[in-house]
Amino acid sequence: MTEVFEERTRRCQQRLQAVDADGVVCFPSTNLYYLSGFREEPGERHLLLFVPAAGDPAFVAPEMYDEQLAEESWVADVRTWSDGDDPLDLVRDVAADLDLAGGRLLLDDRMWALFTQDLRAALPDAGFGLASEVLEPLRTRKDDAEVAALRRAAAVADDVSVAVRELGADAVGMTEAELAREIESRLADAGGEEPAFETIVGAGPNGAKPHHGHGDREIEPGDPVVLDFGAFVDGYPGDQTRTVVFDGSPPEEFDRAHRAVREALRAGIEAVEPGVTAESVDRAAREVVESYGYGERFVHRTGHGVGLDVHEGPYIVEGNETELEPGMVFSVEPGVYLPGEFGVRIEDLVVVTGDGCERLNDSPRTWQPL
Ligand code: CO
Repeated sequence: MTEVFEERTRRCQQRLQAVDADGVVCFPSTNLYYLSGFREEPGERHLLLFVPAAGDPAFVAPEMYDEQLAEESWVADVRTWSDGDDPLDLVRDVAADLDLAGGRLLLDDRMWALFTQDLRAALPDAGFGLASEVLEPLRTRKDDAEVAALRRAAAVADDVSVAVRELGADAVGMTEAELAREIESRLADAGGEEPAFETIVGAGPNGAKPHHGHGDREIEPGDPVVLDFGAFVDGYPGDQTRTVVFDGSPPEEFDRAHRAVREALRAGIEAVEPGVTAESVDRAAREVVESYGYGERFVHRTGHGVGLDVHEGPYIVEGNETELEPGMVFSVEPGVYLPGEFGVRIEDLVVVTGDGCERLNDSPRTWQPL
């Protein structure tokens, strides 16, 4: 297993050389895990991975991580500091040893300002950029094990989607928060590790706020309900959206809006193949929504890459000319939002294949009770 991480690090080094950068510095993040195999939440102590363009990487880490790093990471050069020491002394040492002190360093995009400020202060002769310059092209192309994990996570989300929709009229009268808890406990029962993001249950007018989360509103008969959820499986997230009616008749315009979104989803997915740009997928979905007269009400990009982070590249958005490649995994999730009335979003994950794409989700996309 550790070979995977070392192999990724070596490919990262090749890219560093290709873009004429001297090193990457990661802090606890999915980037750090991707390269080292060590997973930790961000914290206020200096825990930094230095990957030079050639040679072996090194950690600067609090001594309390000594044993964990030895067990979980393939990186052998671990320099520890104790609470009370100045970790920047070690940062200067490592930078000197790895020949980084005057170089162009690419910092973890999600590194806290606390650490970027310290690195700038400790290494005044270095220049700085963002690690996504070299890591995004690597991370967006999933290997078979990553795609397999994403497929399992999608299956968990699909299973729960079907089970929750089978509640039918029993869901009426539940609050959004109660239904979100129900979804999350079913995700766990189905093999999910933890929710990949705050579960969205947007009932009636709340569905018109794309990232509503969930609140105290009770689900009423005829409410369109946006259900957007997923859980991690083996470290990779599910992310799937359906807009459903549990019982009763929805507002008059709803069926048409739902049809627009479903057709846009299909058009977006049909546009996916190697060599086309990310923005062309956005356009394909958006044109359908526009043809229904809802262009102004599709207030977000069509999708986002999904991997160790639930939102990562490639972003399926106007202006992104990245060409799709086999192994890229992303969402296609058009939506229509009518403020004060309802929202509709339908989302599937797809993996780009040699000649098109494969959908990872297959639960019913209709709104009618199952
Ligand atoms: Co999504």
